[in-house]
Amino acid sequence: MSQIPHDMAAEHQTPTIRTAWSAEEGATRARHLFAEHIGGSPDGVWAAPGRVNIIGEHTDYNNGFCLPIALPHRTYVAARRREDDRVTLVSQLDGSVVTWQGAIDDIAPGSVTGWKAYTGGVAWALRQAGYEVGGFEAALVTCVPLGAGLSSSAAVECGVGLALAGLYDLGLADADRTNLVNVARAAENEVAKAPTGGLDQTASLRTTEGHALLLDCDDWSARQVPFNLDGAGLELLVIDTRAPHRLVDGQYEARRRSCEDASRILGVGSLREVADLGAALAALDDDEMARRVRHVVTENDRVTEFVKLLDDGRIRDVGPLMNASHDSLRDDYEVTCPELDAAVDAARTAGALGARMTGGGFGGCAIALVDRDVRNKVATQIADTFRDASFSHPDFYVVTPGPAALRVQ
Ligand code: GLA
Repeated sequence: MSQIPHDMAAEHQTPTIRTAWSAEEGATRARHLFAEHIGGSPDGVWAAPGRVNIIGEHTDYNNGFCLPIALPHRTYVAARRREDDRVTLVSQLDGSVVTWQGAIDDIAPGSVTGWKAYTGGVAWALRQAGYEVGGFEAALVTCVPLGAGLSSSAAVECGVGLALAGLYDLGLADADRTNLVNVARAAENEVAKAPTGGLDQTASLRTTEGHALLLDCDDWSARQVPFNLDGAGLELLVIDTRAPHRLVDGQYEARRRSCEDASRILGVGSLREVADLGAALAALDDDEMARRVRHVVTENDRVTEFVKLLDDGRIRDVGPLMNASHDSLRDDYEVTCPELDAAVDAARTAGALGARMTGGGFGGCAIALVDRDVRNKVATQIADTFRDASFSHPDFYVVTPGPAALRVQ
C-alpha cells in the first residue's frame, strides 16, 4: 500500500507515493515496543491485515454476499506466553504508548474498554468458547489507518487471536479459521459492544494474496476469486475522506434493526431469502424500510454479477456495478456523507471506471477502480474538490490484495 502525503497534494501537483510497512519493519517495531515496555524477546510476531470491501455492503448481517480483499496494511503483535495468569498489554496504535496489566480473569465485558476490549476481549472470547488460555504479554503496533473504516479493530482482534492460538497451541490457525473468526467477532460484539456483522474478521483471517474473497454470510462458506488488477493495467485507489464517523454506532444499529423488522414483516429468516423484490416492496407500507430492503436485495445481486464478470476475465467491466452500489448506499440505505459522495463524484468525473464508498459508511473511505495512468489525475481531482469544499484533506492509498493474518517471525 502506498500513501500520498498531505504536503505533496497541493493543487494539481502530481501525488507522491509512499509504501507501507514491510513485514520485517512491522515485526521490528513490535519487537522494539515489546523489549522496551515488557522486556526481553517475544515468542513470536503475528500480523493481521485491515480490509477493503470491494462490493457487498451492509449485506453481512443480512446473511448475504460480500467481496473483501486484505490490505497490505497490518497490525503486528509481538507476544510471549506466561505460566501464570498475568496479562500485560502494550500498544502503540495511534502514536502514544498505552499499557494495561491485570489477571486474565479481570478481562470481561464491561471491565475493559477501548483498545483493551479489542485486545484482551479476544482472550475472554477464547475462554468463553472453551479454549484454555492463560497469561500472556503482547505489544501491538499498526499501520492500518485507525477509524477510517478499514477494519483497524478487526486487525487487532485477529492479530491477537492468531498470536494466542499460536502461544497456546489451540489448533485454530488451520486453513478454515472459522472458529477464530467467531472468537474475534465475539470480542468485538460482546466486549467492545460493536454490533458488527463478521465481514471484517473473515476478511482479515480468510483472504488470500491476489484474490478477493466471495463470502456467503448465510453459512460462512467462501471462495477465493482471482483479483488481478495489475494484469488489466488497473489500480485500486483508496480515498480516506477523514470525515468523522457521524453517529456511526446508533445509525449502524438502526439499519440492522430496520432489516430485522422488515424480515419479520415479510416472514423470512433474513433479507437474503427475499426472492421477489417487487412483491416484497409492495408488502411494506413504510417507504424508508422498503428502500433499506431494496438496497440489500439489489446489492446481493450486484455481488453475484461482479464475481461473474471476474470469473469471465472481465475485470474492466465491473465499474458500473461499483457505481450502482454507491448510489444505492447513498439513496436507499442512506449511509454515505457529503465527503464520500464528493470523493466518488470527483473520481468518476476524472475517469475512474467505477467508484463507491466502502465499509460501514458515515465517513471513512471510498474506493475507485482506475487505469494505472489515470490514478494521479483522479487523486488530484479529489484533493482539489475537497479543498474547494473546505473538507479535511483526504489520504490516498493504492492497494493490492494481500495475505490473511499470519505468523511473520
Ligand atoms: C462495518 C461492519 C461490517 C459490515 C460493514 C458494512 O464494516 O463492521 O460487519 O456490516 O460495516 O458492509
